[in-house]
Parts: sequence; C-alpha cells; structure tokens
Amino acid sequence: MKLNNLLSLAMIAVAFMAFSCGGSDKQSETTSTTTAPAPEKEVSLEEKYKDHPDYVKGLALIKQNDCPSCHMVERKIVGPSYADVAGKYETTDENVELLASRVIAGSVGEWGEIPMPAHPNLSKEDAEQMVRFVLLLKK
Ligand code: HEC
Repeated sequence: MKLNNLLSLAMIAVAFMAFSCGGSDKQSETTSTTTAPAPEKEVSLEEKYKDHPDYVKGLALIKQNDCPSCHMVERKIVGPSYADVAGKYETTDENVELLASRVIAGSVGEWGEIPMPAHPNLSKEDAEQMVRFVLLLKK
C-alpha cells in the first residue's frame, strides 16, 4: 500500500514535470517572438531621420565644414552633441536664426566655458540649413 502511494506520487511528479516542460517550451516561443521587434525601437537618430530633406542637406554642409571635429550626434566631445542642442531648443524660425547667428559669430557660455569659434565665411543660408539639421535630431 505504501509503495503504491509512493509510485503514484512519483507518477504525478513525472507528469507534472512533463507538463511544465511543455509549458516552458511555449514560453520561450512567445518570448522569442516578443523580443524580436525590440531592436527596432533602438534605432539611432541618424537612422530615424536619414531620409528627411533637412537631414540630407544639413549633413552634407556640416561634412564640408569643421563642425564634426567638435560635435557628434549623440556624444558630447568639445561641443554639445547635436541631440543635446535639439533637446534644448524648439524648432522655430526664431531659434534657427538665433543659432545660425551664433554659429557664424561664435558662442560661449550657453553650454560651458569652452567657446565655439566664429565661422565668418559661412552664409546665413548655409548656417541655417546646418542648424535645421541639428534641431531635427530630437530623441
Ligand atoms: C572648435 C570646436 C567647434 C567647432 C569647430 C564647432 N563648434 Fe559648435 N559648439 C562648440 C562649443 C564649445 C559650443 C558650446 C558654446 C557655448 O557654450 O556657448 C558649441 C555650440 C554649438 C551650437 C549650440 C549653440 C547654442 O547657442 O546653444 C550649435 C547649433 C553648434 N555649435 C553648431 C555648430 C556647427 C553647425 C558647426 C560647423 C559650422 C560648429 N558648431 C562648429 C564647439 C565647436
């Protein structure tokens, strides 16, 4: 009698294990389908805006100038990252003009002690186009 009880307990245990195995199989299936699209949420700002006309035109101008030696999209180097600048200023015509004039005239004190040198050879138009690129890069 005692042995029988033990056996049936063992069988219940085996059945339970088999069941839970099946269960965890299903679980790993569902987790793998839910984790698959997650990397898309992590797209870089470059990836997010690369087809925008202000991105394409602004980036081309920035590459022809010295901006990349002090600015990166998401990392502060000498100057603030473009993403930080975009987070600080709303994209309005006034802000585009203001920031473009600072790029041309130089700027200090907005982000810290390090000054941005003047860019007197830039046209207002080109400077504004570059600033539109910068302000586009909002997270
Ligand atoms: C020698 C390094 C250097 C170069 C080259 C440079 N910057 Fe800067 N930039 C800075 C620094 C430093 C600041 C922060 C200045 C401050 O605190 O006012 C800054 C600030 C800015 C800002 C924000 C200004 C504000 O008022 O908040 C913009 C926009 C900007 N730079 C765009 C550009 C563009 C476009 C170019 C290329 C034409 C450029 N920078 C080239 C160093 C640089």
